[in-house]
Amino acid sequence: MKNRIARRVSEVPPSGIRKFFDLISSLEGGISLGVGEPDFTTPWHISEAAIRSLEQGYTMYTSNAGMPELRKELASYLEAAYGLSYDPATELLITNGVSEGLDLAVRAILDPGDEVIIPDPSFGAYPACVLFAYGVPVRIPTNSDDGFQLSAADIEARITNRTKAILMGYPANPTGAVMETGKIAEIAEVARRHNLTVISDEIYNLLVYDTEPTCFACLPEMKGRTILLGGFSKAFAMTGWRIGYAAGSAEIIGAMTKIHQYTAMCASTMGQMAAIEALKSGLPDARRMVEEYDRRRRVIVRGLNDIGLSCFEPKGAFYAFPSIAVTGLSSEGFAEKLLVEDKVAVVPGTAFGPSGEGHVRCCYATSLQDIEEALKRMARFVERHRRP
Ligand SMILES: Cc1ncc(COP(=O)(O)O)c(C=O)c1O
Repeated sequence: MKNRIARRVSEVPPSGIRKFFDLISSLEGGISLGVGEPDFTTPWHISEAAIRSLEQGYTMYTSNAGMPELRKELASYLEAAYGLSYDPATELLITNGVSEGLDLAVRAILDPGDEVIIPDPSFGAYPACVLFAYGVPVRIPTNSDDGFQLSAADIEARITNRTKAILMGYPANPTGAVMETGKIAEIAEVARRHNLTVISDEIYNLLVYDTEPTCFACLPEMKGRTILLGGFSKAFAMTGWRIGYAAGSAEIIGAMTKIHQYTAMCASTMGQMAAIEALKSGLPDARRMVEEYDRRRRVIVRGLNDIGLSCFEPKGAFYAFPSIAVTGLSSEGFAEKLLVEDKVAVVPGTAFGPSGEGHVRCCYATSLQDIEEALKRMARFVERHRRP
């Protein structure tokens, strides 16, 4: 009998993040360090811009590539933030979040069987999107000793004649790792030498602590071969608005726009209106939220280390990724038992690839009070499950 569902779709497991989110929301007194989403609501002036646009009747489709005014604002933002100059008419595309940008990027460049290099652990959508696009994800293990950063040497060792791209996101989900400048330059050199495209997911670029964000497209000869993906979900607390963007060469953005045109038409009009306001006057709000995340980051990292869950220092995003080695539990076992016994939701490291085993992801985009209570519960949990 024919399979009703395509094999490549059946074989991809559902997101390991959502599973724990669904469980915690039904538990009274539960604390979620699970889903990676700001606890802030969207700054009011940003929501108001969208409300005003509805009152003015902006309820129709926009241009496929996104509203010209938003693309113009975005071009000015990228110029001011990174000194990168993109033509709003041909080199920018407004997407339904970075999620859609990732899907479009791989679909635009992959032929069946093409390989894409991905760090492991990393955001679960990376390998899934590659598989949906008939590509082959090639995972490269990283660990806390190498700062969870991909190395040029490891990439080079995995390159074959089918390698088409490197897909990565720094600051990283789930580790909070940021790429060191020297390492970015070495990876860019490998990409140039092997004629690879770099898909750089920079959704957390505004969320960095005492360090500079990653910018592949800023390196010599890299702008043309980098697909820069960015968005509004995290830095502006706008996850529900579903607005992101892709910046790249006119050739690649043109190909991505073609797929987007037939499958999404455009990003939501009111979301784009909100995004214009976010770029025009939302950066101070983003900075205020980052200061608050930084306070929480210090509390959670110190707290986890104090209870024996040794934690790599995250320099970006809003995740801590402690080792759970003191317990001897698997990451799935740790997350499940912690949820059932002490009502704290964390995400097993294996939701981000095999190299996540031995770790759990704790999202600290939640109140300090909840973080402190979660740490107390985790301390009791670790005492009960300490490896003899
Ligand atoms: C690394 C990374 N990229 C992309 C996304 C998706 O973001 P968006 O809401 O813009 O689709 C997420 C969301 O968690 C993420 O962590």
